[in-house]
Amino acid sequence: MIDRRLIVRSSVVASQIDLHAEFGGIVPEIASRAHLTAILPVLDQALADANVTLDDIAAVAVVTEPGLVGSLLVGLTAAKAICLARRLPLVPVHHIEAHLYACRMAAGEDVFPAVGLVVSGGHTSLYDCRGPLDHRLVGSTIDDAAGEAFDKAAQLLGLGFPGGPEIEQAAAAGRPGAVPLPRPMQDAPGLDFSFSGLKTAIRYQVQGVPGSDREVLPMTPERIADLAASFQAAVIDCLVGRSRRALRSLGHQRLLVGGGVAANGPLREALGQMCHEEQKVLHVAPPEMCTDNAAMAALGWERLDAGLTAGLDADVTPGLIRRK
Ligand code: KG4
Ligand code: ZN
Repeated sequence: MIDRRLIVRSSVVASQIDLHAEFGGIVPEIASRAHLTAILPVLDQALADANVTLDDIAAVAVVTEPGLVGSLLVGLTAAKAICLARRLPLVPVHHIEAHLYACRMAAGEDVFPAVGLVVSGGHTSLYDCRGPLDHRLVGSTIDDAAGEAFDKAAQLLGLGFPGGPEIEQAAAAGRPGAVPLPRPMQDAPGLDFSFSGLKTAIRYQVQGVPGSDREVLPMTPERIADLAASFQAAVIDCLVGRSRRALRSLGHQRLLVGGGVAANGPLREALGQMCHEEQKVLHVAPPEMCTDNAAMAALGWERLDAGLTAGLDADVTPGLIRRK
């Protein structure tokens, strides 16, 4: 039987990158306004690409948490309107759980229980994933997210936005060991991360240490490549080290990795190597399913089947709630 959860009929992504690029990060007000103008054309496009009409729809799945409140509200309000007009079930979806579900879709087989690592622009978290709808947060960043650190480091290096792909590209010509950078929280107990110190270390390399007369090297293409490669290697070490620790302490056989930073080639390789050493199985979705996309909403099928629908009074939850 065809597994409806795994068939992607359309996945329309309305990128806002150009709108935010000049600010070097996401501007919440610009994001919600852009959602407002994009939502109806995107819905039309999604139906057209899938070659269906609203008459063929069984339910509407929509992200209600976590995220920027204005953007979440635009999506939820549009979903409610369709459900009200068409008498369809409304299925709330957790954005981070949906990132991990991309691994389930790519694998084409059950991948739970597993350790889940989500590395995106807003989150860097480790989960004890007991099933597609049962994820318990066991560690997260205490300051910046990994993607946010990539974006800020890229800005300091004079590279474009989003910073992750820019740094990955620049790093390809650099030496990962050229600039000594810290590995924050590498040996700390628990499973939390920290990335703001790394960002500061890059700032000091580029702008000099305040109050110090140590010479600042000129930002030649070679120097930028070395800084990018060294930064990327430090972030990878932190992500791999903590994931290894989580696999050992939770005892699961599989590691699921999702979120935009999981599109990073050297990170994927390093995680593959670590899982090989630990004799674990790595599941990471193809790069286009790591960055935000519409196919992630397939998690909605799991929730629909489990009866986890919501009423038209459903609300959004912008923050990430720690569930133990
Ligand atoms: O999951 P995502 O698309 O959106 C959020 O939910 O945040 O993640 C976006 C983040 C950005 O910070 C971007 O710089 C990062 O993912 N990213 C990458 C790569 N591609 C995207 N980071 C490192 N290497 C990449 N190739
Ligand atoms: Zn995301």
